[in-house]
Amino acid sequence: MKIFVDSAKIDEIEQAYSYNVADGVTTNPTLLKKAVEKLQKKGEKITIEDYIKKILKIAKGTPVSLEVTDSTADGMINQGKMLYKKFNSIANNVVIKIPVNPSFEEEIGKDFDGINAISSLSKEKIPVNCTLIFTPEQALLAAKAGAKYVSPFAGRIDDYIRSQNNISFKKSDYFPMDGWETDEEILEDNGIVSGIDLIAQIVEIFDIYNFKTEVLAASMRNARQVREAALVGAHIATCPYNVIEELLVHYKSQEGMKKFTDDIVPEYAKLITD
Ligand code: E4P
Repeated sequence: MKIFVDSAKIDEIEQAYSYNVADGVTTNPTLLKKAVEKLQKKGEKITIEDYIKKILKIAKGTPVSLEVTDSTADGMINQGKMLYKKFNSIANNVVIKIPVNPSFEEEIGKDFDGINAISSLSKEKIPVNCTLIFTPEQALLAAKAGAKYVSPFAGRIDDYIRSQNNISFKKSDYFPMDGWETDEEILEDNGIVSGIDLIAQIVEIFDIYNFKTEVLAASMRNARQVREAALVGAHIATCPYNVIEELLVHYKSQEGMKKFTDDIVPEYAKLITD
């Protein structure tokens, strides 16, 4: 499974690439806003354009998702083309992020604008990462429209199931992949019992119909969820930097290191010292 860095912070992206375990980057407007505000607070003068160029160069050879901000088909197509034209020449790795359904609650008639935009950009060979996926059928339509990646938001499904059922939680809290069982039932959202279940169902459908579209597990909240995304066959997990760090931590590894270090005999240490 590939690991993307779910961040717009240059230092985090650089760090993850320095370990040679990063296979791509996903940004979103919220992440970019946070990263730029942090720099502005420090008094640094960098334009958002230069900032994006920096990210693209660090991730050279691996895909970087940049999200559109419009919510109409025409607007998203124009922005997608502009982003691609402006930035793809930097490192040839731009992917355009398009929401599967850009409607706000009160809007009617825009449900297919995302699918139209995906289809139009894909026909022009502009790779698309279809985002904000919360059902397998949304993923199916995005794949049919030609998306290169679909991004189901695992963590946000778990958040939703918990908040609908008045369960308090912290963002990083683990949610069982087989669902949250009460005395009477397994909690669910329209047949989806967890974020990982959503990913598993999408992977299964894509396998049955041989879709080439890759499943990019997004909204990852902890290391165990990344493990489960891998177990159910996600092609990629995009992880915030703190989750990437968490992938390596275990108490017994630390304890073992201490014990081995305490037990080094000087003669052995001398053998391997220059
Ligand atoms: C990545 O493409 C998504 O925008 C991101 O994973 C969302 O994560 P969040 O639900 O933690 O905000």
